[in-house]
Amino acid sequence: MISHWVKRANSTHSAIGLQNYSPLTGKKTKKMRVLGIETSCDETGVALFDSDQGLLGHAVHSQTEIHAEFGGVVPELASRDHVRKVLPLLRGLFHETGIERQTIDGIAYTAGPGLVGALLVGAAVGRSLAWAWKVPAVAVHHMEGHLLAPMLESEPPAFPFVALLVSGGHTQLVHVAGIGCYQLLGESLDDAAGEAFDKTAKLLDLPYPGGPELAKLAESGNPDRYHFPRPMVDRPGLDFSFSGLKTFALNTLQDAKEREGGNLSAQTVADLSRAFEDAVVDTLLIKCRRAVRQTNSKTLVMAGGVSANRRLRRRIGEMMAKEGGAAYYPRPELCTDNGAMIAYAGCQRLLGGTDEPLSFSARPRWPMESLEAVSSETN
Ligand code: KG4
Ligand code: ZN
Repeated sequence: MISHWVKRANSTHSAIGLQNYSPLTGKKTKKMRVLGIETSCDETGVALFDSDQGLLGHAVHSQTEIHAEFGGVVPELASRDHVRKVLPLLRGLFHETGIERQTIDGIAYTAGPGLVGALLVGAAVGRSLAWAWKVPAVAVHHMEGHLLAPMLESEPPAFPFVALLVSGGHTQLVHVAGIGCYQLLGESLDDAAGEAFDKTAKLLDLPYPGGPELAKLAESGNPDRYHFPRPMVDRPGLDFSFSGLKTFALNTLQDAKEREGGNLSAQTVADLSRAFEDAVVDTLLIKCRRAVRQTNSKTLVMAGGVSANRRLRRRIGEMMAKEGGAAYYPRPELCTDNGAMIAYAGCQRLLGGTDEPLSFSARPRWPMESLEAVSSETN
């Protein structure tokens, strides 16, 4: 079990006053303290976010060990583990932070996209607690949560900006005018970047979850030994395609195996990892640069599990500095799935006056552009 605890008595948020003002209108909003619950895939995440004090605490339980022997997420096992872990995790969160549940003004839970059984656990717990505690509940879009996670940092980006969302299920470039004002600029036509990392890692026989393992090995890889293609960079537009890269990796790996007598040496695995990582990073970087130039943006936000990748963070930061702008991303623990981003996104929506009925549903597929803009003028 992996848990992170964060305690912030004097959050930088209150120092800069970001949460006290509507991100859209700049007008003062009322204070709100929100419990966030994330159960869309293989991490159970819970968090407490306060619009005045910032992130009060969060905890994440990872199911890595459960799914490792199957080499990928088994949906039924994921749902069952969320059922087992969500309440103990919530009790732990309240205990560790010393926060009284009577001070909670609202509950945010991930309603989609994701695995339907897993989503229903968080939705049922979130809605039930809200009913019992007589507070409002709000259904949060998982990718909106990722997109807004950099807002939890001490120097949050200002709207408008371009966002690169790179996770296990999504690779999207989005123009963000404000909370809920999302225009899709481009996306992957096949595999998501994280999925490509995971599938390539599997080909290399790396343990699940493959992405971070591959990234670790790439550190000691020789960047000059193999060269992988940069898919779709010479075509106009902002869409991505990563499935060909995985096939290229398979072919290169098979050639190398033949040459090395059936087994790859550790150095060859590291060199292949490095070549793959460089190709993904370059491709993402080229499209991001195109997106910020096309939209005249000086701010690029990167979020989602793959944004924890160190080389990607460094290269995107350098690229944006050259463009005369800046890149923003969450601390690594808030790049991957967590409850903090859900609590933050839900808090903004509740402050904006979102009012949902008691009935609820999980939305395994849910286009982010269909979300309503948040207008935080209710006071
Ligand atoms: O956002 P996330 O935790 O879950 C989804 O919403 O999908 O993203 C998980 C993805 C996985 O594909 C994982 O391999 C990838 O993020 N990932 C990484 C790294 N850390 C996580 N990929 C490359 N380098 C990393 N350091
Ligand atoms: Zn995610």
